[in-house]
Parts: sequence; structure tokens; C-alpha cells
Amino acid sequence: MATWHRLGTREELLARVPYSLKLERHQIAVFLHEDRFSVISNICNHRGGPLCEGRVRGEFVMCPWHGWEYSVVTGKGPAGYDEEQVPSFAVEERADGVYVQTPPVMPRRLVQHKPSHLLDAHAKPVGAPPRVLGISTTGMDQGNPRFSTSDALLDHAMDMARELVADTQLIRLRDLKFQHCEGNYSKASHACTWPCAITERDPEDQLTAVYEGLVHWADVVVIATPIRWGNASSLYYKMAERLNCVQNQITIHNNMLIKNKVAALIITGGQDNIQAVAGNMLTFWSELGFVFPQFPFIAHSRGWDAEDMQNNVRQVQASDALREAARELLGRAVDFWKVLDQNRAMMDKPMERAGRKANPLVNPEEAIV
Ligand code: FES
Repeated sequence: MATWHRLGTREELLARVPYSLKLERHQIAVFLHEDRFSVISNICNHRGGPLCEGRVRGEFVMCPWHGWEYSVVTGKGPAGYDEEQVPSFAVEERADGVYVQTPPVMPRRLVQHKPSHLLDAHAKPVGAPPRVLGISTTGMDQGNPRFSTSDALLDHAMDMARELVADTQLIRLRDLKFQHCEGNYSKASHACTWPCAITERDPEDQLTAVYEGLVHWADVVVIATPIRWGNASSLYYKMAERLNCVQNQITIHNNMLIKNKVAALIITGGQDNIQAVAGNMLTFWSELGFVFPQFPFIAHSRGWDAEDMQNNVRQVQASDALREAARELLGRAVDFWKVLDQNRAMMDKPMERAGRKANPLVNPEEAIV
């Protein structure tokens, strides 16, 4: 049954718009457009972003999470997207104040958007050999490649993977064109989505190869980085920030995209800080859901006072010990994956990450018309 609700006097609303409130089951957003009040749902069709916190330009409000737009008058998307509809409500200005009617005059309409470029599943037949993904994170100049110590050890590890008859894939981050993370997590944990909002929106963004590799393809991942000013490389961090959406699925949905996968690390630098780089990386990859073989990284550095970088390169090039260490690291990682694989029934038991404060999910499909 239709019900009119008094929101307040015109002056009271003018002092507040745009704002949101809950009316019965409806989370509404109140706007002012061309001196008239309008009311639409506060919940974005995409992932539930709060529309009243968005930027208003003319008739349209832009969702603060990922930029979808809606008319504040009709609740429809802009031209070309006008099949998309958030609920809109009748509003009346009367002598004693402003009233809004429930239920909405236009209900929510969700259009299924399925961009064709999104992640592929890469199903693996039972009994197939392990898949080993190498990720090189050095920012080498493509036009003038030099010897990279981290890449060299990664190459040795990948040679070993091929000898073990694993299926292999090597991704060099420097070959990919991908955007930096937009930090949607900082707006709200539910604003950081899987697939990443950038991947959903931008078919040209090539980090899809990394997402697919980590989530859908690989059993074992070897990540190689140089040390830059005491940290992993800037390309490594550019990738790591974009992987927040993988970890965030655990935080907000207990949805473990990474399970029964093994990670191993290769860290090289002219100067020191290996333990700090390894500690940081081990924490990060474990939070994504990876597990580690015994002695999960190999590393090389000649210490803080070693400024003679040409000798660093020479030493890695000539070192049989490091070459063997890279091969053994890969061997340990594959062996450990085999143990996991043989115990899959036990490993597949449901589990909880836990230890995080609950954050209620806003889901427009369930919400609040
Ligand atoms: S654009 Fe609104 S939640 Fe993504």
C-alpha cells in the first residue's frame, strides 16, 4: 500500500541535501535538482555504493565507488545505459513540508553486464602435471635489456620446472600495460571488488594475465624481485596493490580465491635488506592464501657497502650455488604442491580466515527496493 512520509520542512532539507535515510525497507537518497527535491535509492546497482555520497553534475550523480551514473530525478542511467534503473520515488512539496511516497514508482532494474574480456577459468584435468607460473617484477628497460640477477635466477627455476615436466608460464610485469590501483578499498571494503573494478571496466588493462595466472591457472608461483632501496621493486608493488581485490574477497566474503597453491620467492639486490623484503613478501602472499615449502625463498646480496654493482652481476652470473639454489627452490615448491594435491580431500575442508571485524555486505540484488 502506498504511504506518504514527511521528510521535514523545505528549509530543513535544503540544509542537508544530498543525504540518505532509511524508510521502511528502503534506503533512500534525497537530492535537490533545479530547485526541486527528488528521491532515488541510495544503493548503486553495481556493487551497492552509497549514491548520496557521489558527485552530482547536472541531473546525474556519480557513484563514489566506481563511477556509475544515475539521474537523480528518474533513477535511470545516462543515455546508452538507461536500461539500468535504481528505484525512484514520488516526492511532493506541501504546505507543511516535503513528502516522499513508498514503495517506489520505478523499481530497481539490474542489467547483467558481462564484459567478454574478463578472466578465463582454465580448468585442469585430474592427474595433469602441476602448472608453474613465474612472475618477473624487475623494471628492466625493454629497449636496452641488461642482465638482471633476479630474472637470471628465475630463469634457472623455470628451467627446472620444465625438466620436472610441469606446465609453465612466465609473466614479465614490464611487458604488461596495467593501471595502478585506485584504492577503492580505502573508500569501503566492499568497494574493492573481484574482479578488480579496473579489470571490469578496461579491456585494455593487462593485469588480467596475472589475475588469471594466480587465481585460475597456476599451482606453483615463483615471484622474483630485485631489491630497490630496501624493498621489492616498484613494479612488484604496483601489482601487489592491484591484488588487494584477491585478498579482500577473504575479508568480506570468506571467499578464498587462492587455495592449495604454493608460492616461492627469489630476491636479489646489490645491497642488503633481504630479511625485511622476504618478511614483507611472505606476509603478503600468505594473506592471499598461498602456502610455502620449507625454506620458501632464495636470495643474494653483497651487503650495504657493496657499491661495485658490476661485481654483483658477475658473481650471480658465475655462481653455480645460486643456480642450484633456484632449481632446488622450484623442486621444493613442486614437491610441496604434490603433498597438498595428494591430500586434497583434507585440504579442501571449509575454513575461515577469521580474526577480522565483520563488515556488513551491501548487495543491491538483495536490497532494499
Ligand atoms: S559504481 Fe557504484 S558500486 Fe560500483
